[in-house]
Amino acid sequence: MQFFPSTCFTYKDNQLHCEEVSITDIVRQTGTPTYIYSKKYFETAYKEFDDAFHEIPHKIFYAAKSNFNLSVIKTFLQLGSGVDVNSEGELYRALKAGAKPGNLILTSVGKTKNEIKLGLEHDVLMIKAESEEEIYLINEIAASMNKVARVAIRVNPDVDAKTHPYISTGLSENKFGVDRETALRIFRMQNELKNIKFTGIDMHIGSQITSISPFVEAVEKLANLFFILKKEGIELKHFDIGGGIGIQYKDEKTFSIKEYAAAILPILKSLNCEIIFEPGRYLTANAGILVTEVLYTKKNQNKNFVVVDAAMTDLLRPSIYGAYHHIQPIKVDATKEKITADVVGPVCESGDFLAKKRNIQKSEHGDLLAIMSAGAYGMVMASNYNARRRPAEILVDGNKISVIRGRETFDHLLFDEQEALK
Ligand code: LLP
Repeated sequence: MQFFPSTCFTYKDNQLHCEEVSITDIVRQTGTPTYIYSKKYFETAYKEFDDAFHEIPHKIFYAAKSNFNLSVIKTFLQLGSGVDVNSEGELYRALKAGAKPGNLILTSVGKTKNEIKLGLEHDVLMIKAESEEEIYLINEIAASMNKVARVAIRVNPDVDAKTHPYISTGLSENKFGVDRETALRIFRMQNELKNIKFTGIDMHIGSQITSISPFVEAVEKLANLFFILKKEGIELKHFDIGGGIGIQYKDEKTFSIKEYAAAILPILKSLNCEIIFEPGRYLTANAGILVTEVLYTKKNQNKNFVVVDAAMTDLLRPSIYGAYHHIQPIKVDATKEKITADVVGPVCESGDFLAKKRNIQKSEHGDLLAIMSAGAYGMVMASNYNARRRPAEILVDGNKISVIRGRETFDHLLFDEQEALK
């Protein structure tokens, strides 16, 4: 059994702590399942990222989709970040968290008319368009509002990010962005599009990418387009390279942010414009854990099962991507036997598992387990299947604990169904 290396989740007297607080103490108050995040981790990761690019004009737009809790967005805003929003709901959240106009960028392969209108109303720094049809619609909506929309075109650079197929976005077979030729054609329509000002070029080639070479390849391709446009008099202010940096869940060989910067800085420097980054997972994944309680243990034939109170409804990643999340006890007891078990939830699906064939400390009813690296794409992908309430979320700052989202009540779940209750 290994323990996940983390600076903000450490054992003191064999008890897992987040910063200075014991996890057991937290969940004694909140119950389980509960997400716990370290503020220090958010801050350290953000600063590390920002510092790595200090030599060039740049701005980080935190990808709120990885964790859209208001307090998490607010933490990044206070560090100087902007927010990359992917929907009306994320835009609403970012504004509620205090994001100012100009500090937001609007993404999505399928923006509704209303989303485009809201983007313009709130004066987002740029709308990243993903098709020619969308360009016409943005132009039309901006005209009706008497505005000139700042627009970037998302280019699909046709680069293999070598990640899980569901989260690979930069191959021509993927739905995202437009190909090089289409991008050039659209940019060249600048003079006809009276209510659009092209201000940027954008890419995002996928998520959980663990090698630098796809980034270099894609940035080179995008830079080539940038220079062609420049020669033609289309000067862009922003060069947006998206997010996608992989983190360590298990024993993946990843790269440091300094290595990432060293590889792409030479190209970025030659552009002489503001570089935009949209990291999500890098800033949040290892800032969070999901704490769950063991309900039962059993053996079917020769197979061990640990049934816990968290499920695919709380953390979907193992079920849909076969993702690995390290699982470790909140209380380490070296005298306990190690077993190989599937850690499963209470939902009525065989796909409801958090780990398979995992070597873990033998546990019993009432023990607490930490599912590591759960700060990104965890709570945001939770659901109410089986009429389960979604988990609570806690933010730890030193020795201070804040409940940044209370556990849903059953009445929350009935909120929209008043008809039957009349
Ligand atoms: N920018 C755009 C346009 C994106 O689509 C994404 C993520 C990001 C930035 C942030 O990417 P990151 O730095 O977090 O890799 N649910 C999946 C991940 C989906 C990622 C979607 N787009 C998972 O749990 O692995």
